[in-house]
Amino acid sequence: MTGPVTFYVPRDAAALAMDADAVAKAIQREAESRAVPITLVRNGSRGLLWLEPMVEVLTPTGRIAYGPVQPEDVPLLFDAGWLQGRAHALCQGLTEEIPYLKRQERLTFARVGVIDPLSLEEYAAHGGLEGLRRALSMTSAQIVDEVTQSGLRGRGGAAFPTGIKWKTVLTTPADQKYIVCNADEGDSGTFADRLLMEGDPYVLIEGMTIAGVAAGATLGYIYVRSEYPHAIEALNAAIGRAREVGWLGDNVLGSGHRFDLEVRKGAGAYICGEETSLLESLEGKRGLVRAKPPLPAIQGLFGKPTVINNVISLASVPIILARGAAFYQDYGVGRSQGTLPFQLAGNLKYGGLVEKAFGLTLRELLYDFGGGSATGNPLRAVQVGGPLGAYLPESQWDIPLDYEAYAKASAMIGHGGLVAFDESVDMLHMARYAMEFCAVESCGKCTPCRIGSTRGVEVLDKIAAGGEAGEQHIHLLRDLCDTMLSGSLCALGGMAPFPVLSALNHFPEDFGISAELAATPAA
Ligand SMILES: Cc1cc2nc3c(=O)[nH]c(=O)nc-3n(C[C@H](O)[C@H](O)[C@H](O)COP(=O)(O)O)c2cc1C
Ligand code: SF4
Repeated sequence: MTGPVTFYVPRDAAALAMDADAVAKAIQREAESRAVPITLVRNGSRGLLWLEPMVEVLTPTGRIAYGPVQPEDVPLLFDAGWLQGRAHALCQGLTEEIPYLKRQERLTFARVGVIDPLSLEEYAAHGGLEGLRRALSMTSAQIVDEVTQSGLRGRGGAAFPTGIKWKTVLTTPADQKYIVCNADEGDSGTFADRLLMEGDPYVLIEGMTIAGVAAGATLGYIYVRSEYPHAIEALNAAIGRAREVGWLGDNVLGSGHRFDLEVRKGAGAYICGEETSLLESLEGKRGLVRAKPPLPAIQGLFGKPTVINNVISLASVPIILARGAAFYQDYGVGRSQGTLPFQLAGNLKYGGLVEKAFGLTLRELLYDFGGGSATGNPLRAVQVGGPLGAYLPESQWDIPLDYEAYAKASAMIGHGGLVAFDESVDMLHMARYAMEFCAVESCGKCTPCRIGSTRGVEVLDKIAAGGEAGEQHIHLLRDLCDTMLSGSLCALGGMAPFPVLSALNHFPEDFGISAELAATPAA
């Protein structure tokens, strides 16, 4: 053996939850006792969550993965020759050749799990800063144009074109403008924002700096959900280092542009992820939805023009600037361009993160990547797009994952999270859960949502109780959903009917009604 052997043990929250710290210690202890010099890198997660903690060993042929590794496996792995990447029951082979990873198209997540998240040198060596450097050689209008041309749409859920939002902020005169990153990530089954912030925080910093230069903003805030202490720690450490070397501050990369960042811990409510509520919370107030107009792009944080974007939207900008709009646009289908980090959760054998171009199908995600249900029972329903997303039955699993095709099917892709359920799921119960979620999380500002969701739970309870008035209750439920859909101030009340109606329309048998009755519209 010539030099120290490099080990990678993720410090990502998912790996930590599976004892990654103890594994790292066991590796260090064992190496010492065997007098083997090692270098231990704490990387982000590759997103193959069922393999966490997934340890990688750097060998002359490449990085070899072992997982899931527990502390007690470590001596045996040394015995088996993992320093040379030798076989063992936990050996997954070359990391890059694992089919789950190999079949992905990692643009935004290209460095996640690969580098030491806090190493400035590794970030730069793996293509970091190329986008910002190019942006600094362009005018604000040219940057905005490049982002618009790329077709990037908001990855937080609403899929609004990012470049158009930036243009509004750029062209609104003001003495101060802000960039706000929405890292509240409250949707069920989602973890892409967290994985990225913990695994490659500099890409978010770079994306926000480009946004600042483009829109004429000098200060940015990252609003991170309170349940993400590791992401908050990683971001604060990365911001401190970036400031020290002049990536942030009064003279970004010597360009004369000023841009700085601060992290804020979220208030712990789902509604604080809604952009206007988030701005209220950032201002130190209760997370209450603001009526629009005015748009945040015109009067946002502290009344100033504000770009507010999701983590993944902002983190996708550096590669767009580095490689050009045409490169990014080449991925995807129709008006859904680029890639999306899909998050596979629920009853699946292989839960994790899959970054792919738009246009693949749910079936491919569920089976080719997810490996089918973890229980071995047939899958029955998949909720896509968080707690306000529709439940899709098998007949809809071949619809291409693109924003328009999903909207046509009364579904949404949202933040790209999917939660799979097997045949044991009770869809009436899931419909009730959606209504209850809305009732609990409602900010209370408008009546259709505040009162409607509570009445919705009551009606669903009556349907569950059975009895003669069942048909009447189904009509009432549809009526109520109509009111919420068209009368709510924001998408919490406005979209909560989607999971409820999709459950009713596609799984009427769980509501104790016939398919004909399920198809009868509200009077
Ligand atoms: C109830 C509710 C919760 C939301 N939660 C989030 C969230 O956690 N993260 C997020 O990025 N967007 C969330 N959004 C969407 C934001 O309001 C907004 O569209 C997004 O931050 C804009 O960024 P984007 O254009 O980059 O997607 C939520 C919307 C609603 C109605
Ligand atoms: S729909 Fe619900 S969460 Fe949204 S503003 Fe109305 S009460 Fe608040």
